[in-house]
Amino acid sequence: MAKLITVFGATGSQGGSVANALLEDQDFKVRAVTRNASSDKAKALQEKGAEVVVASMDDPSTLGPALQGVHGVFVVTNYWEHLDEEREVKQGKAVADAARAAGVLHVVFSGLENVQKIAGFPLPHFDAKGRIEEYMTSLDLPVTFVRYPFYYENYINFIKLKPQKQEDGTYVLGIPMEGAAMDSVSVADMGPAVREIFKNWAEWVRRTVGFTADKLTIQQHADILSKHLAPKVFKATDMTADAFAQLGFPGADDLGNTFKFKRLHNLVRSLDLTRQLNPAAKTFDTWVGENKDVLQNALD
Ligand SMILES: NC(=O)c1ccc[n+]([C@@H]2O[C@H](COP(=O)([O-])OP(=O)(O)OC[C@H]3O[C@@H](n4cnc5c(N)ncnc54)[C@H](OP(=O)(O)O)[C@@H]3O)[C@@H](O)[C@H]2O)c1
Repeated sequence: MAKLITVFGATGSQGGSVANALLEDQDFKVRAVTRNASSDKAKALQEKGAEVVVASMDDPSTLGPALQGVHGVFVVTNYWEHLDEEREVKQGKAVADAARAAGVLHVVFSGLENVQKIAGFPLPHFDAKGRIEEYMTSLDLPVTFVRYPFYYENYINFIKLKPQKQEDGTYVLGIPMEGAAMDSVSVADMGPAVREIFKNWAEWVRRTVGFTADKLTIQQHADILSKHLAPKVFKATDMTADAFAQLGFPGADDLGNTFKFKRLHNLVRSLDLTRQLNPAAKTFDTWVGENKDVLQNALD
């Protein structure tokens, strides 16, 4: 019998890829959670065969019904919608409590490190997920933590991380890695990886998997973008992470400290495990080659 999986964030990047991968596999059925069942993305999921339910991680009373009778749940919390660490922690704990109450057999949570504990400086969008991981572990939930690195898609969708056009017509990649290499992945490639984790839950439960499909410097990203999008020319910023953190827009300190943490600490992200879970996970070069048009359209 097909296993029913509730997918939080099914209308978004991570959960959308997970929901679509599960919908392509007869071993699974999908219950997609959204706060707005009339959005185009929610309707598209319904058309593909998902059961769409309205629930919110901010309203614990809605979570029991969303998790009733399911084998597993994919959980992603979205810090960037509110920039509030405590709210994100509350959301994650509410889903954890509801999963335990419903007797869910396998939770896959999109977590990250507790940077405050590891590095001694605050990084709210990591710390919140680290605190949720700790809470889930304390409940002894049957959970797999998946940790996503930088998405290639940020160059298209993430306003503050898109290439910025300069007066001379060249583009600067503003990610302040200060010459260090950074893990990254196509978020769209990780849905099949999470599906594999649900398929072989006994193998993956109580483990942490750090995703990555490529580890390159930002100048290497720039060179690959220049190769595929010629005659446009891209280069890496020479800004430091500390200077980026002072830029003043909401979330600038979070982003600056994110890249500082990535540069100073050896985050455990595994190319081998990622390829084991999805052998088709693309390198940045392949992804840019396949997404030239959408990248061109996203540039100013
Ligand atoms: N960008 C990166 O490189 C990167 C890397 C690692 C980790 N992350 C983390 O990824 C997270 C965002 O995931 P994403 O990129 O998939 O986001 P996204 O594409 O913006 O989608 C957000 C999803 O969350 C759902 N959602 C938000 N608040 C909700 C609530 N209260 N109850 C139920 N559902 C809710 C939304 O559903 P509806 O609107 O339909 O209700 C939507 O499906 C962030 O926390 C970020 O820190 C990002």
